[in-house]
Amino acid sequence: MRWVYIEDLPKHNGQEVEIRGWLVHRRSSGKLHFLVIRDGTGIAQAVVFKGEVSPELFELTDRIPQESSLIVRGVAREDQRAPGGFEISAKEMEVVNSAQEYPIQPKEHGVDFLLQRRHLWLRSPRQAAIIRIRDELIKAGREFMAGQGFVLVDAPIFTPAACEGTTTLFQTDYFGEPAYLTQSGQLYMEAAAMALGRVYCLGPTFRAEKSKTRRHLTEFWMLEPEAAWFGIDEIMNLAEEMIVCIVERVVANKHSELQTLERDISKLEAVKKPFPRITYEQAVELLAQKGKPIKPGDDFGGDEETLISQSFDRPVIIHRYPAEIKAFYMANDPDRPELALGVDVLAPEGYGEIVGGGERESDLNRLLEKIKKQNLPQETLEWYLDLRRYGSVPHAGFGLGIERTIAWICGLHHIRETIPFPRMLERIYP
Ligand code: 4AD
Ligand code: MG
Repeated sequence: MRWVYIEDLPKHNGQEVEIRGWLVHRRSSGKLHFLVIRDGTGIAQAVVFKGEVSPELFELTDRIPQESSLIVRGVAREDQRAPGGFEISAKEMEVVNSAQEYPIQPKEHGVDFLLQRRHLWLRSPRQAAIIRIRDELIKAGREFMAGQGFVLVDAPIFTPAACEGTTTLFQTDYFGEPAYLTQSGQLYMEAAAMALGRVYCLGPTFRAEKSKTRRHLTEFWMLEPEAAWFGIDEIMNLAEEMIVCIVERVVANKHSELQTLERDISKLEAVKKPFPRITYEQAVELLAQKGKPIKPGDDFGGDEETLISQSFDRPVIIHRYPAEIKAFYMANDPDRPELALGVDVLAPEGYGEIVGGGERESDLNRLLEKIKKQNLPQETLEWYLDLRRYGSVPHAGFGLGIERTIAWICGLHHIRETIPFPRMLERIYP
């Protein structure tokens, strides 16, 4: 008998099959036991008739605990009334592992209880749907990059210097020398762009974020393109196209997962080009109009991002921030040198920043000044300065936060469910 995955049952209607999975729940009505089984690809219902199996097996079936692993063999039949749309009339069944009492029940559990059991929580339909959407999103991002002619270049995890400020560095011991977990692959992508033209990396990045918010992880993934000869406009176009492409692909291929999450798909269907583009100064005005003024020159906090992003039905691009609040590597606007050519994209519905990037400083002396002004250790950045010594060109790039983007696309309140094993201020278990 052939072992088949539940998602492939439509190809085996009326045939004898074997399915292997875990017991979601069971119910009985005298001569019949119904077992709902999941195998990672879907759910199906096995029916055990009293007359069709041995009395021992029939009796055992009534006692199989939730989450036991089992193998069921029998004829598969389409049946719209069955959970998952398929029913298997069991002829044989093996309980591979009879589970102990399973801690996660259909009732509501607190989020701490679930996070402490994240390794089991992943089995729930909602969590599995999020992980499938994550998979689709990453595939879409990679394929988009390849389609645009970008080459994948992997950035290192151990680094000698900060990219995004020294306050959120995770320090580790590297054979007696301090090293840091990478905050961003950007600086390495700048080197690679000078070698290969258009490049990107996709990997985990680390920030010792000491605040608990619904948007911050200490370990998160970023997709970071970087292109030689690109300026701020090209990089805004690239970010816009990438986001549209990712959203379209998730909507097209992950419809049932979005339904499992009860996501309002019409909100995602509104994500079309062109995205509104406003300057930092216009965003500051918008906040004042909405009754939440900020001091000009200040950065946006979570509340401000929420408010701005609720004002549009699609992602909004904000550009030209005060240079004072941006990283050392940002180029200045030639027309208004007090502004940095930085770009952020905020997702709608209050989700806030999903992309940060912009045009880079390509002039050696101006870059040196910035490094001094921000008190960064120049000796650890000599290699980076070399990029301005040997054939420097204008270039630009950005980082798309994978988890923030998933939270938005899935409509999740908190970022913690977007990554299989979240790392946060107070959580490194399991
Ligand atoms: O805006 P950020 O800090 O930009 C950079 O790191 C640039 N070096 C990227 C580049 O230009 N290549 O981070 C980029 C994105 C943010 O927009 C956000 O989506 C995400 O990374 N991000 C986080 N996601 C989850 N938890 C955190 N603590 C995050 N910090 C940033
Ligand atoms: Mg940012």
